[in-house]
Amino acid sequence: MAIIIDGKQTAADIKAEIASKVAAMVAAGQRAPHLAAILVGHDGGSETYVANKVKACGECGFTSTLVRFEDNCTQAELLEKIAEFNADDTIDGFIVQLPLPRHIDEQAVIEAIDPRKDVDGFHPVNVGRMAIGLPCFISATPAGILELLGRYGIATSGKRCVILGRSNIVGKPMATLMMQKRQPGDATVTVCHSHTADIKSICREADIIIAALGQPGFVTSDMVKPGATVIDVGTTRVSDSTRARGWRLCGDVDFKAVEPIAGAITPVPGGVGPMTICSLMINTLKAATGEVYDRK
Ligand code: GUN
Repeated sequence: MAIIIDGKQTAADIKAEIASKVAAMVAAGQRAPHLAAILVGHDGGSETYVANKVKACGECGFTSTLVRFEDNCTQAELLEKIAEFNADDTIDGFIVQLPLPRHIDEQAVIEAIDPRKDVDGFHPVNVGRMAIGLPCFISATPAGILELLGRYGIATSGKRCVILGRSNIVGKPMATLMMQKRQPGDATVTVCHSHTADIKSICREADIIIAALGQPGFVTSDMVKPGATVIDVGTTRVSDSTRARGWRLCGDVDFKAVEPIAGAITPVPGGVGPMTICSLMINTLKAATGEVYDRK
């Protein structure tokens, strides 16, 4: 029986910790941290994410601002709003919710954000600073996973960590962070992807598996060493007629089969997912306190 890593409870604990720090800041005469978000269009997933971010801001005592654009807005309009937020001293950090409509160059938008306000940690300055171990904003999912490993006391030093997936927002940063000279970190990291030969035997060597490839149930019991820690980043919506909304979230790990073998495991939902918004709150607090970058 594995330890179930409870992301929902951990996220609630962290938000309560942040709220008490914010209350102390406000009592000392400082203004509350302020997170702004830009949402383009009406994509269902993005609407939900942004609504949850606004809700989390409320729980943490932050000020939040949401600016909406229609699908047909121009890139220039978006860049103009970003320039405005960059210059606005009352905004500590902001995000542009992705994905963006196809006529907008996502990378140009990311690079227009002042890295000191890039609480998503997507700007190349933050990614580069992370790679060489300098203070930076770390993107939400990898930061949330580190937080879970740390709070659950999962040993990473000298351990074999296998990461499934090489995306810019999870796989690549996760590999960088797990190998860094820090705790959690100091692991020996292998990254597997669609061209990797014999993924199963590589996984069987792992003390820690981080699955982020978006293939429901990919990690099966024959891929897991007894006692390994298994972190499931998958959030694929699969149709399910027994649910009122017609779908359920499915992770990259066959939880039922793997849980009896693993030492610790994250469920889906309720594992990594709730931690991501929490990481954004941590970054926004750090932006407000100047802990990462001095904006004065
Ligand atoms: N879309 C899905 N995840 C994210 C995220 O972490 N940040 C932004 N800006 N957009 C997203």
